[in-house]
Amino acid sequence: MSATVNVSLPEYVKNDRFKAWFHEMVALCKPDNVHFCDGSDEEYQTLCEQMVQSGTFKRLNPAKRPNSFLALSDPSDVARVEDRTYICSRRKEDAGPTNNWINPREMRSTLAKIFDGCMQGRTMYVVPFSMGPLGSRIAQIGVQLTDSAYAAVNMKIMTRMGKKVWDVLGNNDFVPCMHSVGAPLAPGQQDVAWPCNKDQKYIVHFPEEREIWSYGSGYGGNALLGKKCFALRIASTMARDEGWLAEHMLIVGVEDPQKTKTYLAAAFPSACGKTNLAMLIPPQGFEGYKVTTVGDDIAWIKTGDDGKLYAINPEAGFFGVAPGTSDKSNPNAMETIKSNTIFTNCALTPDGDVWWEDMTDTPPPELIDWQGQAWTPAIAKETGRKAAHPNARFTAPAHQCPVIDKEWENPNGVPIAAFVFGGRRATTVPLVYQAVNWNFGVYLAATIGSEMTAAAAGTIGQVRRDPFAMLPFCGYHVGDHFNHWLQFGRELPNPPRIFGVNWFRKNKDGKFLWPGFGQNMRVLKWVVDRVQGRAAASESPLGWMPRYEDLSWKGLEDFSPEKFDELMTVDREAWKQEVLSHEELFAKLYDRLPKEFIWMRELMQSSLWRSPEHWHLEPERAE
Ligand code: GTP
Ligand code: SPV
Ligand code: MN
Repeated sequence: MSATVNVSLPEYVKNDRFKAWFHEMVALCKPDNVHFCDGSDEEYQTLCEQMVQSGTFKRLNPAKRPNSFLALSDPSDVARVEDRTYICSRRKEDAGPTNNWINPREMRSTLAKIFDGCMQGRTMYVVPFSMGPLGSRIAQIGVQLTDSAYAAVNMKIMTRMGKKVWDVLGNNDFVPCMHSVGAPLAPGQQDVAWPCNKDQKYIVHFPEEREIWSYGSGYGGNALLGKKCFALRIASTMARDEGWLAEHMLIVGVEDPQKTKTYLAAAFPSACGKTNLAMLIPPQGFEGYKVTTVGDDIAWIKTGDDGKLYAINPEAGFFGVAPGTSDKSNPNAMETIKSNTIFTNCALTPDGDVWWEDMTDTPPPELIDWQGQAWTPAIAKETGRKAAHPNARFTAPAHQCPVIDKEWENPNGVPIAAFVFGGRRATTVPLVYQAVNWNFGVYLAATIGSEMTAAAAGTIGQVRRDPFAMLPFCGYHVGDHFNHWLQFGRELPNPPRIFGVNWFRKNKDGKFLWPGFGQNMRVLKWVVDRVQGRAAASESPLGWMPRYEDLSWKGLEDFSPEKFDELMTVDREAWKQEVLSHEELFAKLYDRLPKEFIWMRELMQSSLWRSPEHWHLEPERAE
């Protein structure tokens, strides 16, 4: 440890395990300073101002975007790095075929080397946080040590962070979350605006020890360790062990004109529409309906004494995709981010505000793009350069959302009546279908496919199986996740209904067949009505599906039955291929594949084999 570092703990920090771990980590990382975050607004302001001075943050025009900042990352550090993400369980089989695994002893020795002196020239921030309302029986506590002030201020928005966490923690256990951008500074060395390590990144989880180590990145899910690392990867293993669920799901409330409230939890892969669905505004024709947001990314779900499922949003803010967000697509998000928001990798307007693709119909005539370069619509046309990075994000407090649900901080959670699973599929998958029972629903969720997006480094557009939208986030063997869900359902007296949706089907010209966004309310209404036992459906090879007349078309009368038919068609050959491709995932799971899945696959196959070449909802139109 360098001679000057002040490691005296604030008197309110009494947790014994923390003290031992903290001293060990200070000795390892050798920061120049240590700062214990108290979580106050003053501290937030001070840290933000420091980052303005250091060049990490640009303060946006207070007349346009009060108390808001823009950060531009290093061009190499723009998304989660799935190929550098590890689940280091003792046994390789427990990480499963979909996770990267390295022997924990070997990984610990690697980490000991790369973390040695990694904070030289920097400040270590101590960030105590609660995932979930402080003191909720569903909530969990972590402490992140980080050399990134950017991570610390983001954690202030995204979690319940600060001094008060220590009181709730007492001398109990917590999840240690070690984070470094991996860019130590030699004496006198000038810092850069976005420090990170271009050569080496490690996002490491020790599920048995419930420990997280992240090195080399300052971006999103790599650096805000309460989010994907804790609330999904570590929490999913806790949930399996303890009989609950930690899922990549939004939570939304739908109130009908009779004032009956139904809560749904919906899982879509990254950048596939969770934030948008969570903040949906019912369109014309749905007067009297209210949609409210509980969460937009993660749900922790436990069974209540009444046998119902109760969900909390473990987060306190939204780390949302910026591009595509507009007054047209998501006015509630636009309202949420009007102030007190951190923007990352968005473009800067000449008057000191932010912009991104599709925020407005006509782009501003000139901008500074996310790489700090001059940008004009003409340059964009010529070079294809985007003003904002496709994975540009906003970090905003959840309470600023105009439709935040009044129960969103209820420590007991909200009752979940249905689960929805979806992916981004240009072909094959219809707008909506309902699994015939819990087991088929688990099968549906386990075999969701989706085109890859910019939320992770990789080949954009390629379809991959993304079981439960948890492929990059399940902290244990994904086959065990399926078994956990099957078992979980068996123990529920009346398990929630399970639905599949796809907002992204395209026609032959590559245009979306479905208007999406607010219009998804038509699908939500059918889902809610099915749950409440008041909507009809037709039996299809995939389960129950609404016929044209089963959806409400009020306000969208020009959406013809023919168009709906195109959107809902089950193409036999495409589905035979689809079901065959399930086998690719199943084969990897060996003995951990639930044996029910084989029978369900065979049942689906036989019903597809028997179905017409193009299965349509109206039997009289079948070929
Ligand atoms: P993560 O934060 O990465 O987990 O993403 P998310 O699932 O919350 O996705 P989000 O709601 O931010 O949407 C991602 C992209 O999908 C944005 O560009 C949206 O404009 C687009 N999108 C969302 N809903 C719809 C829809 O109903 N139809 C279409 N066509 N696009 C949509
Ligand atoms: C996702 O990729 O699903 C996100 C963004 O929600 S990140 O926090 O970077 O994981
Ligand atoms: Mn997400």
